[in-house]
Amino acid sequence: MKITLSAIKADVGGVGGHSKPSPELVATIKNFVQKNGKDKGLVIDSYIGYTGDDTHILLSHTKGPNNPDIHKLCFDAFMEATKVAKEQGLYGAGQDLLKTSFSGNVKGMGPGVAEIEFEERPNEAVLLIAADKTEPGMFNLPLYYGFVEVSRSPGLILSDDMRKGVKFTIMDVEHTEADKIIELKTPEEYVEIASLLFNPHRFVVEKIHSRSTGEQIASISTTRLHNISGKYSGKDDPIMIARVQRPFLATEEIGAMFKYAHYVAGDTRGSHNMALMPVKLNSPASVYYCNPIVTGLYFSMHNGKFTATGDAFDDPVFDEVRRMAAQKSFAMREQGFVMPAMLPMEEIEYTILADKIKELGKRFIIRK
Ligand code: 13P
Ligand code: MG
Ligand code: MG
Repeated sequence: MKITLSAIKADVGGVGGHSKPSPELVATIKNFVQKNGKDKGLVIDSYIGYTGDDTHILLSHTKGPNNPDIHKLCFDAFMEATKVAKEQGLYGAGQDLLKTSFSGNVKGMGPGVAEIEFEERPNEAVLLIAADKTEPGMFNLPLYYGFVEVSRSPGLILSDDMRKGVKFTIMDVEHTEADKIIELKTPEEYVEIASLLFNPHRFVVEKIHSRSTGEQIASISTTRLHNISGKYSGKDDPIMIARVQRPFLATEEIGAMFKYAHYVAGDTRGSHNMALMPVKLNSPASVYYCNPIVTGLYFSMHNGKFTATGDAFDDPVFDEVRRMAAQKSFAMREQGFVMPAMLPMEEIEYTILADKIKELGKRFIIRK
């Protein structure tokens, strides 16, 4: 039996700013999914959690990716939650819902989507990695380290299957009319892969497939909210589903790729660079300049049911990574408003600086 995992996420309101959803907001989504998804037999199982102000719905079902009923279920759940967010006066109520009525596929309507269909293994093991205050290209470096670079990821030579390499599907997210993608294979095209992934604002890993079994290993949301709406509408906080353990990488081989606390675009006003901090499940955003955060849920599933879950970064090792991330972020903030502390003009989520520079442009003179 083929199972599909759909992770659909949106920010529909935060408590006292862009922090976290309220308990009532989360409960509304849970009840909605239970009543209209599980009770009706549309989905097999569900898990609802949050990372900062982004709430994610993870569903297992047999309908395949891009199924209108599954997407509508999530869209409607977020619409219901928006009502609650408005009643509670939450900040940014309905922020990521760029349309108010559903039209077939939730992609392009604001919520982020990662989906993956597979023949379930007897011991199916999966990771759900969700981030807040950053962008989908955040995954570029951890995925490159994990799936391409043997010196950081020795599993690539210890597994017969991983030795055969993987296929990266990379999207050019600046092309907004349609999905523009390229497929590149490891190990032989690693230079080409790196030549794109160096720019995480434009080139984003969308999928990874095993060259050994042909199966999809990972799926990453690639939404660019400001490309859809044409104006600032929050950062496109990303989510990834990754299948782990044989014949893929081990859970801890992917988890370890988040020990670098690499600098990512995002944080306050989505306009800066700070170090990515792995945090515990259902953590609020940091009031230290909205330091970018990432959570990891690992779980087992059987016959489509989520049988048991664990918190990937609730671990003393990651206490050290958190300390390092804080130090790296403090160091970057010492740089004040000057790049690279602040993003280049095209990536800043507000147009105010561009407008002001235009205004000042009138006062520039050419010296004779
Ligand atoms: P979110 O994209 O997480 O809503 O954050 C927006 C922001 O501007 C925080 O300062
Ligand atoms: Mg928000
Ligand atoms: Mg967010």
